[in-house]
Amino acid sequence: MLGFWSSKTLPEIDVALISRAFAEAPQTLTERHTLLGGRDMARPATGKIVCSCFSIGEKNITEAIEKQGCSTVAELGCRLKCGTNCGSCIPELKALLACTVRQTTIS
Ligand code: FES
Repeated sequence: MLGFWSSKTLPEIDVALISRAFAEAPQTLTERHTLLGGRDMARPATGKIVCSCFSIGEKNITEAIEKQGCSTVAELGCRLKCGTNCGSCIPELKALLACTVRQTTIS
């Protein structure tokens, strides 16, 4: 196996996740995809990954909006770190904010 990282800062490495992956290989296609996506199979499902830099899923984000009162991309970034690295997820974060706020208002 080979890993390559190019950045001015060191990557955040989840050593526990890597250790578990070597201790017990994924058994199903879903587990393999989860592992290849850099997500922890032991963690509860977070929904579709929106922020791949920090493996933040749609469920985490909607929960932060609905239950923790995040109403801006900056607030989501402070709480979950999503959108605070490459920024490519920011349009999707904005869409989730608009959608979740709209659904909360309607119900
Ligand atoms: S994908 Fe969200 S900051 Fe990079």
